[in-house]
Amino acid sequence: MALWSGRFEEGAAPVTQEFGASLPVDKALYRQDIAGSKAHAAMLAAQGIISKEDAAAIRDGLEGIEEDITAGKLVFDIADEDIHMAVESELTRRVGEAGARLHTGRSRNDQAVTDTRLAAKALAKRLMHANLGLRCALLDAAAEAGDTVLPGMTHLQHAQPVLFAHHLLAYVWMLTRDFARMRAAFDAADASPLGAAALAGTSYPLDRHMTAEELGFAQVIENSLDAVSDRDFLLDLEYACAVCAMHLSRLGEEIVLWSSQEFGFITLSDAFSTGSSIMPQKKNPDFAELIRGKCGRVVGDLVQLLVTMKGLPLAYNKDMQEDKEGALDAARTVEQSLTVMAGMVSTWTVNADRMRAAMDRGHLAATDVADYLVKHGMPFREAHAVVGHLVLEAEKRSCDISELPIEVFKAASDLFGRDITRALDLDAIVAARTTEGGTAPAAVEAQFRRARARYLVDESSMALLSAVIDF
Ligand code: ARG
Repeated sequence: MALWSGRFEEGAAPVTQEFGASLPVDKALYRQDIAGSKAHAAMLAAQGIISKEDAAAIRDGLEGIEEDITAGKLVFDIADEDIHMAVESELTRRVGEAGARLHTGRSRNDQAVTDTRLAAKALAKRLMHANLGLRCALLDAAAEAGDTVLPGMTHLQHAQPVLFAHHLLAYVWMLTRDFARMRAAFDAADASPLGAAALAGTSYPLDRHMTAEELGFAQVIENSLDAVSDRDFLLDLEYACAVCAMHLSRLGEEIVLWSSQEFGFITLSDAFSTGSSIMPQKKNPDFAELIRGKCGRVVGDLVQLLVTMKGLPLAYNKDMQEDKEGALDAARTVEQSLTVMAGMVSTWTVNADRMRAAMDRGHLAATDVADYLVKHGMPFREAHAVVGHLVLEAEKRSCDISELPIEVFKAASDLFGRDITRALDLDAIVAARTTEGGTAPAAVEAQFRRARARYLVDESSMALLSAVIDF
């Protein structure tokens, strides 16, 4: 018999039991559920709503249940529907009447979302931690890359030479923004719904601030209807996950390309590669591919909850029970992806010679040759056309623009002098890009220092959060 069966004459149809239950998903939240119940019971006693003896019996009973669940000794019964009723009915079996007083002034509606908020905070922290791990690996790789250059691309076509460190730092900045989104998701979850009860608050003299403080929430939610029906905090978490997964999919794709025979820019370690069951020679970048692929499910998790929430009237609706599975999945998937990616980056071998060799193709100096003409007085648009013809000539000769004889340059424009070789020198081209945020070694060094400073700030804010216990 369900705990709510009083007003029913017949039992529920057997087909609805599994369908209606959230226990298979929310059993993962047993610690949060028990912490919430302990805080609620302590507050009920402090307010004189239940006796101190009952509160102590409830606390001891809940602690025993937590131990038994952790030890795998307590087998859940799907008839209990969700973790809240599973814990409460077990408590009542163990401590009798006191257990039956626990739900005074509380509803599963505020209880469920309290558990979920506690879980969301813990998940956000794990994501932030994993985010820092990958940033650290990328910063190390950027430091190690030194002045290694590779062809920068647009449209996946050779464009202009860039420092490999510069390329890696672009990902560090994406992850820096991801960290801020994860932190924002933590803050969004950091408010207590307890005391909202079913939807309207209760007539018992609850102390909402006491339970909030006990559970480590920064504040209480202002409106009881909003408290039980808001799932924005999970959307924030899933959005932070989705954007991060998208960033990781881009890096995953680059790793797949870079480790191919055609590029050969990096060699993945054996520890982060796989073989083929039929082709003995294969060394595949499976994990980079999988990270690229996992983005689909994480974006799916976000879209699922957005669509579930759309059009729901206030306050709680059973639809909302569909909120937890995707959020848990998105957070776990992105945390794992970040960790695997960090391992891949910190163990790859960079083939600087292959990057250098790739610079011979694609006329990477073309923009700078046009700039040379501009510096000698030619309007840029005209210079663009002159260099376009030089590229065409180089293509006809199957060589790079930098390999054309000086006579060909002179024939194209009499502004070209012997010093054109300097405009064709790829290291000089890189060194000239001194714009703040540009690819010149000194600019990249300054950028590296700023990225590292941001990393250190985030690392210390993480240390503060880590000091706070999770439920
Ligand atoms: N299991 C539900 C959930 O996860 C909580 C129960 C909400 N209350 C209710 N009357 N159905 O959302």
